[in-house]
Amino acid sequence: MPSLALANRQWIYSARPDGRVGSEHYTLQESSFSPDLAVNEVAIQAHYISVDPYMRIQQAQRHSFDAPHPLGIVQRGGAVGQVIASRSELFQVGDWVLSYSGWQLYAKCHAGELRKLDAAQAPVTTALGVLGMPGRTAWFGLMDAGKPKPGETVLVSGAAGAVGSLVVQFAKKAGCKVFGLAGGATKCDFLVTKLGLDGAIDYRAFTNANTLSDEIAARTGGVDIYFDNVGGMITDAVIPNIKLRARIIICGQISQYDGGLDKPDLGPRFLQHMLFQRATIQGVLARDYTARMDEMLAIVGPWVSTGEIVFEETVVEGFERLPEALNSLFEGKNLGKMLVKV
Ligand SMILES: NC(=O)c1ccc[n+]([C@@H]2O[C@H](COP(=O)([O-])OP(=O)(O)OC[C@H]3O[C@@H](n4cnc5c(N)ncnc54)[C@H](OP(=O)(O)O)[C@@H]3O)[C@@H](O)[C@H]2O)c1
Repeated sequence: MPSLALANRQWIYSARPDGRVGSEHYTLQESSFSPDLAVNEVAIQAHYISVDPYMRIQQAQRHSFDAPHPLGIVQRGGAVGQVIASRSELFQVGDWVLSYSGWQLYAKCHAGELRKLDAAQAPVTTALGVLGMPGRTAWFGLMDAGKPKPGETVLVSGAAGAVGSLVVQFAKKAGCKVFGLAGGATKCDFLVTKLGLDGAIDYRAFTNANTLSDEIAARTGGVDIYFDNVGGMITDAVIPNIKLRARIIICGQISQYDGGLDKPDLGPRFLQHMLFQRATIQGVLARDYTARMDEMLAIVGPWVSTGEIVFEETVVEGFERLPEALNSLFEGKNLGKMLVKV
């Protein structure tokens, strides 16, 4: 166990954003970290810290699936790091672990909150992506809520992101015809050439829902499953294209997060399409499937090892860039999972 105190750095969430979140909503705090542990505690040094869109949801004033993130504490979030001291029989110094220790270099965690990672089996960063929360969301959101059948047409918004890039691949494996919506030609090219999609549509090339809707109709011929990560104009454009007994999976609404969540709700204008097509719409939340994580890992883990499932990571270097990295999710600067190497 290191005897000297270590220089810790923490990003404290300090002000609620009205619009886009940035470094002005955080305070960088330096303190000393002493790994004196209680029984069953483990001290961790973070190596990779996650930035995720849900962080912005929790920064809204309103209650979502959680109470708003409190001000004045370390930004919560997932991290992958190594054990530097342990008073748990389950963890030894040097072990790689997944923790929920947030935006700080060093943290003490209860052993029961940690997942040990096998670095020989998969890159440790996958615990924040394909073999972590985004992978679980993609797998159960599609398979459990969407129930894809071979030959069906699946359309995914935010298709080149952490969750979306996995949903599209799982849908291909389920024998579906798969289309993605993403921002820009590079991401669309990635979806078709690297992930093997049947087509990709650059939504940024469209200024209104009607023309985008016409393009979706022409390219897909109608949609059996719409896996939505984005909402807003994109969803307005998709809904008129749903087929009989379509399933709409609401995974995220990122286009509404930076400010929209605190505005009065508008009534949905598309419900007539639900009626015409006897469709269903269902929200899905990763935490509802936490107990089934091993089920997902048993199926998807081997696909990751063999390369059958491609996972992309966008890695930003530098602890001080965490707020900037979170912000950049809202500008689409990431391909696949966005991480910060600290
Ligand atoms: N339900 C759950 O439990 C759960 C779990 C994880 C994630 N999610 C949700 O799933 C969605 C994706 O999350 P992720 O972690 O995989 O993030 P991500 O897709 O890797 O990153 C966010 C992406 O969203 C797109 N985007 C941002 N602002 C947009 C806008 N105004 N209009 C259209 N697209 C926009 C950007 O891609 P483009 O360049 O293509 O625009 C960006 O790369 C989010 O809505 C998130 O809240 C839900």
